[in-house]
Amino acid sequence: MQLKDVPAVITGGASGLGEAAARLLAEHGAKVAIFDVQEEKAQAIAKTLGGIAVTCDVTSAESAEAAFAKARAAHGPAGIAVNCAGIGVPAKILGKEGPLSLDFFNKVINVNLSGSFNILRLAAAEMQEREANDDGERGVIISTASVAAYEGQIGQAAYSASKGGIVAMTLPAARELARYGVRVLAIAPGLFMTPMMASLPEAAQESLAATLPFPSRLGQPYEYARIVKEMIENPIMNGEVVRIDSALRMAPK
Ligand SMILES: NC(=O)c1ccc[n+]([C@@H]2O[C@H](COP(=O)([O-])OP(=O)(O)OC[C@H]3O[C@@H](n4cnc5c(N)ncnc54)[C@H](O)[C@@H]3O)[C@@H](O)[C@H]2O)c1
Repeated sequence: MQLKDVPAVITGGASGLGEAAARLLAEHGAKVAIFDVQEEKAQAIAKTLGGIAVTCDVTSAESAEAAFAKARAAHGPAGIAVNCAGIGVPAKILGKEGPLSLDFFNKVINVNLSGSFNILRLAAAEMQEREANDDGERGVIISTASVAAYEGQIGQAAYSASKGGIVAMTLPAARELARYGVRVLAIAPGLFMTPMMASLPEAAQESLAATLPFPSRLGQPYEYARIVKEMIENPIMNGEVVRIDSALRMAPK
């Protein structure tokens, strides 16, 4: 699918991987709407790329429905949706203060997995109304999993479960939405240099980078965004999760 003039929704677009995706898609002519809870940052970024910012909490059905309605009024029905909103706080199952609270586990699942599904379902509903292109395509939905979906470390039980859910729903969603000409994909990044990573001490960044076979450096958000662009433009990609990780296979800790 061509990017030019296609309405695109990017959650988590106020920071890191989502911001990079929003910038690259806007550069190639997509009409970008950034959905994020960080209102001011989202506004500032949207302004620089000629898109719009919409305050949206992906965990809420009402918030996401209202956000889609606003974006649609400005740009038309979405043809592209990219799920980048996520949280990654580590916590052990058995911590110093006893078993991990169920609320913590549910929160991570809620933002990362239910939030991604919330956007997927609403995006699919808009896409089915769009006119198909010559390839029969009406839309592309991309979610962001993680290599932790496959080899989560100690402290990542909740995070890995949430990302594993994204991996698992990609194929059934692609199969179901095929009849509407909507493709569904996911990306599983390894270690990327986002504000979260940049806040770690340099020594910690270096030791993380040393675990990466090649290239032995953190990925740049732009490199993630390039995969998003390729997935949108390449019509044969569907129902797949693509790792982008320098051949990293994470150790238990
Ligand atoms: N950075 C990495 O190395 C890495 C690796 C693997 C996977 N990921 C995944 O990529 C995605 C983006 O990560 P990042 O590093 O850019 O993180 P980030 O913290 O820089 O950005 C995440 C964005 O999501 C937004 N957000 C959080 N909760 C939200 C909610 N309920 N509703 C709407 N927006 C919300 C935040 O405000 C923020 O702008 C996440 O899903 C993360 O799990 C990142």
